Amino acid sequence: MSFRDLGASSDIAPGAGKMFEVDGHNVAIFNLNGEFFAIDDVCTHEEASLSDGAVDGETVECPWHGALFNIKTGAALTMPAVTPVRTYAVKVEGGRILIDVGAESPAAQS
Ligand code: FES
Repeated sequence: MSFRDLGASSDIAPGAGKMFEVDGHNVAIFNLNGEFFAIDDVCTHEEASLSDGAVDGETVECPWHGALFNIKTGAALTMPAVTPVRTYAVKVEGGRILIDVGAESPAAQS
C-alpha cells in the first residue's frame, strides 16, 4: 500500500467533490459530511467529470446525462450508465487527504 497526499481536507467542503490526477488516474474525491471517498472521475457512460456533478446523500449525478452513481461503492444506479466506476482507498490523517490508487475502497466490497 502506498498512500499519496492530495492536500488539506478543508479544501473540499461537505457535499462537494474535487478532481485530482494521481499516477495517471483521474480521481474524484468527495466529502460526505466529513467522510472522504474516492471514485474514478470519468463517467462510464461518456466522459463527463463526476467531480462536477451534484451530490445528494451518497450519490453523485453525472453533469452530462444525469446518471447516478453511489460515491461509496461506485455502483451505477441509473441509466444511461450501466458500468460502475472504480473506487479507491482514501483516508484523512492530520487534516490531509491520502489516497492509494492501487487499492479499492473497503465500501466497494461490502
Ligand atoms: S456522460 Fe455521464 S451519464 Fe452520460
